[in-house]
Amino acid sequence: MAKNKKPHNKAAKPESKAENKPPVKKSDEAQAAKPVNKPDSNTPKPEAAPKAKKAAASVRKPEASDNNKPLIEVRDLKEYFNINVGMFRSKPLKAVDGVSFTINRGETLGLVGESGCGKTTVGRTLLHLYKPTGGEIIYDGKPVKTRDDIKKYRRKATMVFQDPYSSLNPRMTVSDIIGEPLDVHKLYSSKGDRMERILELMSYVGLNSEHAARYAHEFSGGQRQRIGIARSLAVNPEFIVCDEPVSALDVSIQAQVINMFDELQERLGLTYLFIAHDLLVVRHISDRIAVMYLGRMVELADAGEIYDRPLHPYSKSLLSAVPVPDPKIARANQRIVLTGDIPSPLNAPSGCPFRTRCKYATEKCAEAMPEFKEVSKGHFVACHRTGEIN
Ligand SMILES: Nc1ncnc2c1ncn2[C@@H]1O[C@H](COP(=O)(O)OP(=O)(O)O)[C@@H](O)[C@H]1O
Ligand code: SF4
Ligand SMILES: [Mg+2]
Repeated sequence: MAKNKKPHNKAAKPESKAENKPPVKKSDEAQAAKPVNKPDSNTPKPEAAPKAKKAAASVRKPEASDNNKPLIEVRDLKEYFNINVGMFRSKPLKAVDGVSFTINRGETLGLVGESGCGKTTVGRTLLHLYKPTGGEIIYDGKPVKTRDDIKKYRRKATMVFQDPYSSLNPRMTVSDIIGEPLDVHKLYSSKGDRMERILELMSYVGLNSEHAARYAHEFSGGQRQRIGIARSLAVNPEFIVCDEPVSALDVSIQAQVINMFDELQERLGLTYLFIAHDLLVVRHISDRIAVMYLGRMVELADAGEIYDRPLHPYSKSLLSAVPVPDPKIARANQRIVLTGDIPSPLNAPSGCPFRTRCKYATEKCAEAMPEFKEVSKGHFVACHRTGEIN
């Protein structure tokens, strides 16, 4: 059973409209791609220096009333990258194409789907690391749009990256890696305060003070990810996008790091968007789970509900691949093997993006994009045949 830690699973409010997209030409030149919108140049500049926060001050518990309103609202988010497809020719790669969801304060929303379906792009666009091609991001009731909004938002929302080997500068010491966001935002008033805060952050993630002067390359993958997490906590954020933070780690270490995310959430009142392709990982930590396919959301529900009663054929196939310890249940749950690869977002099928791999596909599926609609309380699905095939 999914962990379902907190009873605050307010329904998302998806707003993407049904639409019928014509097919576009194929290209696999994603590597040579340029974002339509370059990564934001609104890098935060040093702000007026508030005094360094002490341990007690950084422990933030969400207020009971906070759980009633979403901390994050994403409406019809789009991120297109311009891809060169020949001399003087380019076309948009729709990495994220009209995604809507909410995340409540203190909640963990798991985001799953095969590699290339747009999970990282959702996370990066949500944090304005890419300027959205379209849609709205509303944080704590206020739209994040202007440079000033983004600057303030970057103090509240941070990211833990997938690969702890490439995301940490090997020439910097642990204390400088963790201290860099403190320097950028001038979050201390003296060197002593700065070091005190760095040591506090290190203790949060189980690192010792002796580690402070060492270099990232001296550490194992799990310890490096701890350094990355401490760095993401430096600005005392409320919301963290965790982009496959355990995928690059040994299985034996994964559970430790996941438990640490859980403990940090309790202790600091954090809200997470937790991205993973491994459903087992998401199952443990998520309150609700969203499933993505080819730049779109195909299902969203409480974690327990999506495990017990997945409705979209794609979610069913993902779940059937999750190992079950009980051999009787495992035998009963036949694995659904999908044939073919996820299509290129440059050459997305017309109608339902999943239709080229769906055994239930009909003519209608090729003609019209299924609407992402609520089929029971808080359970959203994008499939024309939900009622018939379940
Ligand atoms: N900066 C970029 N420029 C061009 N294409 C990109 C860029 N980032 C991602 N993509 C493409 O967008 C799609 C979604 O990628 P991504 O968000 O990384 O997926 P995931 O995290 O689910 O594996 C992929 O087809 C990928 O090749
Ligand atoms: S809309 Fe059609 S193709 Fe898409 S998931 Fe449902 S049945 Fe399959
Ligand atoms: Mg990714």
